[in-house]
Amino acid sequence: MKKNIALIPGDGIGVEIMVQARNVLERISTLYNHHFYFDELLVGGCAIDAYGDCLPKRSLESCKNSDSILLGAVGGPKWDNQPHHNRPEHALLTLRKELGLFANIRPAKLFDELKDSSPLKNSILQNGVDFIVVRELVGGLYFGEHKIEEVDGERIGFDVMSYSVSQIEAIARVAFDIASLRRKNVVSVDKANVLSSSKLWREIVEYVSRDYKDIALTHMYVDNAAMQICRNPSQFDVILTENMFGDILSDESSVIAGTLGVLPSASLSNIKDLCKESNHKFGMYEPIHGSAPDIAMQDKANPIGMILSAAMMLELSFGLKNEALAIQNAVYNTLSQGYRTGDIMSEGKKLIGCKEMGEIICKNLV
Ligand code: IPM
Ligand code: MG
Repeated sequence: MKKNIALIPGDGIGVEIMVQARNVLERISTLYNHHFYFDELLVGGCAIDAYGDCLPKRSLESCKNSDSILLGAVGGPKWDNQPHHNRPEHALLTLRKELGLFANIRPAKLFDELKDSSPLKNSILQNGVDFIVVRELVGGLYFGEHKIEEVDGERIGFDVMSYSVSQIEAIARVAFDIASLRRKNVVSVDKANVLSSSKLWREIVEYVSRDYKDIALTHMYVDNAAMQICRNPSQFDVILTENMFGDILSDESSVIAGTLGVLPSASLSNIKDLCKESNHKFGMYEPIHGSAPDIAMQDKANPIGMILSAAMMLELSFGLKNEALAIQNAVYNTLSQGYRTGDIMSEGKKLIGCKEMGEIICKNLV
């Protein structure tokens, strides 16, 4: 298989972890006889430093022309004083919007090996944690009008939150499709007791659910969901929610796994027929964590979230299930051999750096 992959290492630890993910992909291409062509692009703070522009045209165009995108992380305190439209985060939001990446899929999975790194008690974790947050990514508060205006001598900040029927329907279908491949349970999270966009959300999700008779649907208010995720995370299979709630709940969900460092995520555009493997789905894949500038360039980062994002890309965008599984197994084996980066270190384990973690995972690839 031949594929063009846009690589965006970004800022901070993004640079180090991307090297390891690329090595893993190169090893896969040798083992399975694929041809991956990498185009390394500047986006975020590094692009501001080089061109004064957080998302240079060439980077955006190359992303559009690629078969899929792998992204490390963008941002850092160095660029905090940039105007709003040129902050590294803005590059990320523009990429999502320009590429139509409306469906953000964020698994929250507890690795057995890492149970002790979870902040939750063992009694809460005994039934396991394995759910997926499906977050709408190009609507809601993030993309409504933002302004600060003076009204009657006082400044007021506005951020408009809106959702259309078609936006809600599209993301709801993704959640139901994913649930149909899993434990057939969707919890839709909203704030329908207060917000109009949530009332419409609930109505449309109900409507879409009629096409998925075998999937159990329940609704939960976002405040309750935030509490249930840490009180009883095993109850969840697929959580469907809007952009802002998804941002917050997905951070909460991922920390349950013990570290942000090990979880991948996907943002997809074309996901009709999710269940059909042959159907190419364009996507951007990135670890859930950020650029962690405090530990950048010290060989301390955990490359596992990035490497598992590469695996997710192979499976979801290219239909390469076996290759993805091989990477996942190599990661599990490396963890069960006792290797740990600092963020997941516990007593009796072997502390290693980012580079060595990547090398051992490559060695464990068969
Ligand atoms: C995320 C991040 C982004 C978001 C930031 C960096 C704009 O927190 O991907 O969850 O809020 O979507
Ligand atoms: Mg976030």
